[in-house]
Amino acid sequence: MSESSIQLKVFESANGNLPPLTPVQEEILRLKKERKAVLLVHNYQCAEIQRVADFVGDSLGLSYQAEAAKDAEIIVFCGVHFMAETAKIVNPSKKVLLPVMEAGCSLADSCPAEELAAYKAAHPEVYVVAYINCSAEVKALADVICTSGNAKKIVDQVPADKEILFVPDQNLGSWVADQTGRKISLWPGSCYAHVLFSVKEIEKAKKAFPKAPVLVHPECVAGVRALADIVCSTEKMVDYCKNSSADTFIIITETNMLERLRNEIPNKKFVAGPTAVCACNECKFMKMNTAEKLRDCLRDMTPEITMDEDLRSRAYIPLKRMLEWSKR
Ligand code: 13P
Ligand code: SF4
Repeated sequence: MSESSIQLKVFESANGNLPPLTPVQEEILRLKKERKAVLLVHNYQCAEIQRVADFVGDSLGLSYQAEAAKDAEIIVFCGVHFMAETAKIVNPSKKVLLPVMEAGCSLADSCPAEELAAYKAAHPEVYVVAYINCSAEVKALADVICTSGNAKKIVDQVPADKEILFVPDQNLGSWVADQTGRKISLWPGSCYAHVLFSVKEIEKAKKAFPKAPVLVHPECVAGVRALADIVCSTEKMVDYCKNSSADTFIIITETNMLERLRNEIPNKKFVAGPTAVCACNECKFMKMNTAEKLRDCLRDMTPEITMDEDLRSRAYIPLKRMLEWSKR
């Protein structure tokens, strides 16, 4: 078999040179104002959507923003379903809209609530730490929630005598076990996109850019994490690249992350993490949201996240615990 020849994709800083707003973007900005809506956008959304956001960030930052959205009447969430659901859990009096209700998450799907309930019935002593990438039903069964941005901090605060079950991401869970020295049982879930990064192709990228620090999201497998200069959440990637004296970075996470980096950080280069078959790695769920669907959602005020109040209040307990522990 011949050696693969993936052409690495390099994102240069925009240095303030942004294209003019499109008519759809103009409409979004107008509707947002009319509706008194706040637009919360995850780092993996396309550049067109990031551009019109009120806040772009990681799951942790977005949860705090959703909780703090006191003045807005409506929260429009451009991300995936569990993120919009989290906004509803922390701020139930707001109407929460998600442009595409089918925008799911393979990690969330890998932990059905009935299976976790059965596990807990068989192991009643376990202390469940749930990564925020899970359904409201799974959150309601958890003792505390974490994100990739605070997972170590949260697990460090779990009482030492507790046996921890980490759901649903086995990769983040094993990274946290390494970081904290805690013995942690892992749920066998994973992100279909982050497990695709290729050690061999990243090693080639390191050869091509030998001075470039490698930033890896903790949802990646251990072999990929072992190549990192830093393993961190998407928001910490922004801070790291801003504060580093390096001028080029290899970014091992969903490729739209590089749009945020190039738009916010001047005079630097960002190399997209390659898989075995492609220079890019986009999350098909995050990609379901488009500027047109966002415009339609704001215009028609649908689809809306709705939730039974009993479920919401149960899911809020471990989420509130996370928001408090994360500030300590
Ligand atoms: P962050 O919280 O680091 O943004 O990650 C969210 C996510 O879904 C990663 O795949
Ligand atoms: Fe879920 Fe993975 Fe997509 Fe993140 S990148 S939303 S973990 S499927």
